[in-house]
Amino acid sequence: MPEERIVLRHCDTIDPEDIETYLARGGFKALEKATGAMSPTQVVEEVKGSGLRGRGGAGFPAGVKWELCAGTPAAQRFVICNADEGEVGTFKDRYILERDPFSLIEGIAIAGYAIEARQAFIYLRAEYHHLLGPLSKAIAGIRERGLLRRPDGSELDIQVREGAGAYVCGEETALMESIEGKRGEARYRPPFPPTRGLWGQPTIINNVETLMNIPAIVLNGGGWFSQIGTERSKGTKVFSISGDVRQPGVFELVMGSPLQELLELAAASDTKMVQIGGAAGRVLPGDQIDTPLSFETVLGAGSVIAFDTTRDAVAVVLRNAEFFAEESCGLCSPCREGTLAMVEILTRLSRGEGTDRDLAALEELGRVMMATALCGLGQAAPNCVLDTLQHFRPDYESKIKHLAARG
Ligand SMILES: Cc1cc2nc3c(=O)[nH]c(=O)nc-3n(C[C@H](O)[C@H](O)[C@H](O)COP(=O)(O)O)c2cc1C
Repeated sequence: MPEERIVLRHCDTIDPEDIETYLARGGFKALEKATGAMSPTQVVEEVKGSGLRGRGGAGFPAGVKWELCAGTPAAQRFVICNADEGEVGTFKDRYILERDPFSLIEGIAIAGYAIEARQAFIYLRAEYHHLLGPLSKAIAGIRERGLLRRPDGSELDIQVREGAGAYVCGEETALMESIEGKRGEARYRPPFPPTRGLWGQPTIINNVETLMNIPAIVLNGGGWFSQIGTERSKGTKVFSISGDVRQPGVFELVMGSPLQELLELAAASDTKMVQIGGAAGRVLPGDQIDTPLSFETVLGAGSVIAFDTTRDAVAVVLRNAEFFAEESCGLCSPCREGTLAMVEILTRLSRGEGTDRDLAALEELGRVMMATALCGLGQAAPNCVLDTLQHFRPDYESKIKHLAARG
């Protein structure tokens, strides 16, 4: 059976600047195997066969994305590693980047070989500026040893680009605008990045954790990887858990593990509700903690925030809504106006000045935003509102009754 810590296997012990230790543990053997014994198409096939799905939130199959990109004729292709990690409560990519940049760089190099790219970018969250130096040193060390050189003499160039602190720039098309030096706003799709991405060229963009899985898949085979997990969620998942827990942290679990296992690892107690997937994620009530964590149920970017029974659902949702109103790029009106309207209604409710009509308006607004917003930001902003209206309606209604009592 595969080792359960596929992604975090080197994270406890490797100094980010100590390439020797990584090499001594078999590091870069996967890249050597890919470039020495496999064609780019075989690498893509192996990743497809693994069933690996993107760990950045949407869960798109990585191999399918790579195949689409590799099959699009072009002068150049690009690999982007999404290290923006802006989702609320997510800090698993930072944990990985701080402890094991080598596996990530190896994953990027394999991706570059598979789609025949000469240029890769790591888009680093602005708040992770402290990682720019160590990451750049790791890349330089690897380049100096010639590890990024391919048998045909070509070499992958990897550059780190820093974000400027906007949540929307984690969205793949806004991120590409940002790398191109433009304002971070989402693009209309299609076309999708694998056929028309950075500077109009085919581009694969993958999350840090997605790429961290690649070396093990190439070394051990896609079949090895797909042995664990659920039918449509293979491998493991890294979670960052915080909120009302005594031991917040980063944990790697086999896909399909019950939420309860994660809550126990983090020593959560009196859990009223759990937000899975950050501000954009879904909210589960405390009596559903036996839910398996997988793409079939709930997952998102890997952030899990627990709220205990002292919390008021409306207060949590209002804070969430304020975040989205602040971070909306303003390009499309459903998101620009919808996030502001949500804050306005939730503020009124919090003050005890809401009416029954406000609850219906929130539901209607949420449905419209989901159906019409340009990108995932506006489409996912209503999740928290709609889920809590379903599971914690008394928290909302108590505020309306309060108004009636005063009147
Ligand atoms: C508003 C918004 C923010 C996002 N932020 C991130 C992020 O910080 N990191 C990330 O990997 N994906 C983020 N995504 C998802 C990306 O658009 C994209 O799906 C992902 O980078 C693809 O990689 P994957 O297939 O490996 O998951 C975000 C999406 C949206 C809509």
